[in-house]
Amino acid sequence: MVTLIRETSELRLRRSQESLPIGFVPTMGNLHAGHASLLERALAENPVVYFSIFVNPKQFGPAEDYGRYPRTLEQDLSVIEASAARFPARQVVVFAPANPTEVFPAGDTQSVAVCGLSTILEGQSRPGHFEGVATVVHKLFDLVNPSTAYFGLKDYQQYLVISQMVKDLCLPVKIQGMPIIREASGLALSSRNQYLSPEQRAASLVLSQTLRQLAALIGGARHRIPEARRRISDVLKDPHWNYLELRDAETLAEDVDRSTHITILAVYQLGSTRLLDNVQVEVS
Ligand code: PAF
Repeated sequence: MVTLIRETSELRLRRSQESLPIGFVPTMGNLHAGHASLLERALAENPVVYFSIFVNPKQFGPAEDYGRYPRTLEQDLSVIEASAARFPARQVVVFAPANPTEVFPAGDTQSVAVCGLSTILEGQSRPGHFEGVATVVHKLFDLVNPSTAYFGLKDYQQYLVISQMVKDLCLPVKIQGMPIIREASGLALSSRNQYLSPEQRAASLVLSQTLRQLAALIGGARHRIPEARRRISDVLKDPHWNYLELRDAETLAEDVDRSTHITILAVYQLGSTRLLDNVQVEVS
């Protein structure tokens, strides 16, 4: 059963009447199969799942796509209904605030900053972005009080920032990272893929292909990392790459000499659309 809630006061009331375990899937809507995979995992593990749809103004820079970010509530509810139908004994509570002031009252001053992790890579390209993400996720955690929250690993740095926030603030929620869902072509699913023209869509495939090739080149062997770095310098001659980096998968440190788990993170930019992707590599 799916219930739609548009107001924070109603959400608080409903939530106060339930006991744990509660699953939670925070999203900005315009749902695709990646979001459905988070919901279905949450439904498999929890009797009640809260699912938020909120385009968070705090995580968009002034020149970014907040105004034109696709808002498709009716279509999103159909996606949620389809996943929920596979779990008839479970309940889904969709929180889609009718107005941003339901989440951030006018003139609000609260903010959550996760230092260090928030200012590198995506944080360097998008100043203030992760503070906006941490602030809204903290607020939503406070409203929903979930036992487990589900996040896609496509936004790997976001997953680390939220995990760090939960650790730092001793929040009683487990953060569950979920595998990237890809099109058959390899392109990672993202709501922003719809901004791509057919030509850009074809050009975008170099992103997942390069990541896959680099992971294969390293092949689990630490001694091949210098070769991978040389290949990266070569690849970066294409100016569409915002960045393509090998980092420690737990800390995002550049020094991976002692890392056993490495992430290769990249942003490939086509027009104004920045496509994010990553692969994880175990090394010894
Ligand atoms: O990943 C997203 O969709 C957003 O950053 C999140 C976590 C819902 C916060 O607005």
